[in-house]
Amino acid sequence: MNGQASRLIELRRLETKGQVFSDSKIISVCSGKGGTGKSFFSANFASKLAQLGIKILLIDLDLNLSNLNVLLNQAAKVSLSEFFEQRKSLQELICSVDKNFDLVYGDSGRENYPRVSRETLDYLFVSLRNINLNYDYIILDSSAGADELTLHQLLKSDYNIIVTSPEPTAVMDAYVVLKLLNTSCSTARNLVVINKCNSNGEAESTFGNISLASKHFFGDEPKYLGYISFDSRVHQSIVNQELLMNSIPQSKTADEISSIVDSFITIAHVANNNQPFITR
Ligand SMILES: Nc1ncnc2c1ncn2[C@@H]1O[C@H](COP(=O)(O)OP(=O)(O)OP(=O)(O)O)[C@@H](O)[C@H]1O
Ligand SMILES: [Mg+2]
Repeated sequence: MNGQASRLIELRRLETKGQVFSDSKIISVCSGKGGTGKSFFSANFASKLAQLGIKILLIDLDLNLSNLNVLLNQAAKVSLSEFFEQRKSLQELICSVDKNFDLVYGDSGRENYPRVSRETLDYLFVSLRNINLNYDYIILDSSAGADELTLHQLLKSDYNIIVTSPEPTAVMDAYVVLKLLNTSCSTARNLVVINKCNSNGEAESTFGNISLASKHFFGDEPKYLGYISFDSRVHQSIVNQELLMNSIPQSKTADEISSIVDSFITIAHVANNNQPFITR
């Protein structure tokens, strides 16, 4: 039996055993355009949630272009490709970064990176749903772009946080992601973070444009989660391989990330209270 067939059989077995849980825990961080700050945001957002006592698993899903290990100054001993190659279970790949903060590393620049299909991604989500009782949230740091595989991932997530910036190209790409989600009948909650802003006003007008276009062209609006200022210390924190939330927790930028965390907790709380128990 080939690997794909055995994965599908395992998927069916778990589904019929009712082990595919769904309680709104998987968050994909995405963007459309590259370089908007997804990895910086994912790592700092995860760290702040963990500091609040919320159990987090962060997964580097930027297939073969991963960099969370560099951002977090950690040496990756095992990585997600071993799950895709069926050499290890997801549990065996989980490393502890801090209290309440676990991580699954990705790979970077492997010549023989395993081909990831919709089925392998489905199998990853089944595995995630089966360990999600150990975590409050599982955060997937995604690759840039809006290809079929990324869209499939976003459609299977409970929340999509679209990290964009005020640049028109980034705004356009964020809108395209929202439009693709809408035309694919996504049931995920779509939340927007405006990163690299010069002012609150710039962030609000950027979100206003995305929201207005979404409402006008497909009758649905994303929710605004907040903004992060352009701050040269972000670059410095990455060079130093330290999380900004830890190295300068009193900074305005750290406060902005904390506000985004607060907004997310409020939105998730309301969503969980209103959501029927469904199986995806
Ligand atoms: N708020 C900010 N202020 C200043 N620079 C920032 C900010 N956020 C991110 N950056 C810079 O933007 C660059 C890209 O950040 P990051 O790698 O997190 O983006 P990404 O969206 O994950 O990229 P990719 O699409 O390649 O995965 C980095 O050089 C980082 O220093
Ligand atoms: Mg990235």
